[in-house]
Amino acid sequence: MPENTTSIVTETNFSGHSVKRGKVRDLYDLGDELLLVATDRISAYDVVLPTPIPRKGIMLTQISKFWFDFFSDSVPHHLIEVIEENAPPGLEDHLDNLRSRTMRCRKTAVVPIEFVVRGYLAGSGWKDYLRTGSVCGVSLPADMKQCEKLPEPIFTPATKAEIGEHDENISFERACEIVGEDCMTELRDRSLDLYNRAAEHACKRGIILADTKFEWGEINGEYILIDEIFTPDSSRFWPADKYEAGRDQESFDKQYVRNYLTTLVDAGKWDKTAPGPVLPDEIVNNTAAKYKEAMDKLAG
Ligand SMILES: Nc1ncnc2c1ncn2[C@@H]1O[C@H](COP(=O)(O)OP(=O)(O)O)[C@@H](O)[C@H]1O
Ligand SMILES: [Mg+2]
Repeated sequence: MPENTTSIVTETNFSGHSVKRGKVRDLYDLGDELLLVATDRISAYDVVLPTPIPRKGIMLTQISKFWFDFFSDSVPHHLIEVIEENAPPGLEDHLDNLRSRTMRCRKTAVVPIEFVVRGYLAGSGWKDYLRTGSVCGVSLPADMKQCEKLPEPIFTPATKAEIGEHDENISFERACEIVGEDCMTELRDRSLDLYNRAAEHACKRGIILADTKFEWGEINGEYILIDEIFTPDSSRFWPADKYEAGRDQESFDKQYVRNYLTTLVDAGKWDKTAPGPVLPDEIVNNTAAKYKEAMDKLAG
């Protein structure tokens, strides 16, 4: 990956091509293929913040590429190639905005479920557990602590929310009602297997993979892995040597930004709705460094 690609990309607009914007990625439909441009946008609580994190999109794309390659023997996925020096026809003028951060992908019909696997009790899982003693209908032992390791990894699906809405944790049964039991059973088992194998790799690199989210898409009657995988945006990564249950963990992921934002919420300066607050330079630099550290540790 070229180290001198320093330009920040917050938004792309390639004339002659219609763009669909996710919170982080700009999507271009090229007919058979999809172009997924990971920008430097960062979102928290489903709000895109006004301040980009330099090179974040490059790091997300390179980390996803590492994992797609890592699993390529066993799991079909959507990545055709990451654009480095060859732009698709008609987009040659935009190579600087595409390079290292763009995936040429197979276009699929997205399965409208977030496939979440948790090995530890954190985030919305911890909140659900405090309220109900279970997560997405999976009951757990009593008296578990925040961020404690679960007896075994659990599958906790969520809905895929529309723009501006929040994903909602749902039971496995509810997910089956939405997309069918065969689909859910197959993709649950494959998601759990991927989590276990990635967690084992991360562990060797001194990182706890606390939880993660996958997306699957259907093409020619087959389910393939799409979107991003095991990135700091889709996963919680904790340094193993600093891990201790019963409190928040230091992390290599977005949690650092969420924690900063929580201080604003607690001070009554932000209510978790758009527009989000501008991030101070220190937070931007530390976040970029955390993403870089995650990339180097996991994929280096
Ligand atoms: N191979 C694919 N085929 C179709 N859609 C895809 C594919 N890979 C990713 N997507 C979709 O592209 C979008 C990625 O943009 P992103 O900014 O991550 O969106 P979001 O705000 O939903 O997280 C998601 O809506 C995802 O479902
Ligand atoms: Mg996404």
